[in-house]
Amino acid sequence: MKTSGGSDAAKRRAGESAAEAVADGDVVGLGTGSTAAHAIRRLGDRVDSGLDVRGVATSFASRELAADCGIPLLDLDEAVGPDAPGIDVAIDGADQVAVGGEGDETGSDAADIGVGALIKGGGAAHAREKLVDAAADRFLVVADPSKETPLLDRSVPVEVLSAGRSAVAEAVRAAGGEPTLRRAERKDGPVVTDNGNLVLDCAFGEIDDPDALATRLATTPGVVEHGIFVGLADEVHVGTETGVRVARR
Ligand code: A5P
Repeated sequence: MKTSGGSDAAKRRAGESAAEAVADGDVVGLGTGSTAAHAIRRLGDRVDSGLDVRGVATSFASRELAADCGIPLLDLDEAVGPDAPGIDVAIDGADQVAVGGEGDETGSDAADIGVGALIKGGGAAHAREKLVDAAADRFLVVADPSKETPLLDRSVPVEVLSAGRSAVAEAVRAAGGEPTLRRAERKDGPVVTDNGNLVLDCAFGEIDDPDALATRLATTPGVVEHGIFVGLADEVHVGTETGVRVARR
């Protein structure tokens, strides 16, 4: 359930800006979606020019693109754990980003403004995205201006066990939300995630307290992962028609 709006040029500026923040030797979390794809392509160009990085994919799609771009890959289990290198930086898109003001244009330091919670999961990849983004030392969000909002209000994707979808839907209604089973577009029936689960898109209206809703969803039996990302983003690179604004937590 993707957001509409946002030009490809703006997404490309955002993705490429974040890709330039990757250093030689880094292990990089590779996000999912059209904006993160621009970062992956730019990283691929930098690998062609000699940059030494290894990527950790967040989905089937990001793994496939990274492999096409010549980026060496690690599984998450190889990147995280005792004697593992860790993830230095993750770059990922978002469906909505709560921001508290205007950032600076590229070329100056990132502004000290509030970058709040995110909603992710428009591509149904949020479970692995959260694993990788949370494991990274730094998490850079890439977005176009249509994703910015003072208050989160779009539907929250919730990945659920197939057997638990009705029970989770009831719990979502009890929490004041309206769940809709995500349907596939070129297949009869529901979207099935990379993990073999279903997705409920849950409309709550304006989300005044993302942290509280995140906790409530996370503690609902049958929920595999929800798309509210609280306290994870370190920077947001927002591509515009003329440049890039960078906002910092
Ligand atoms: C994937 O499940 C999502 O979290 C994406 O990162 C999000 O939908 C942003 O995608 P776009 O960059 O294509 O808007």
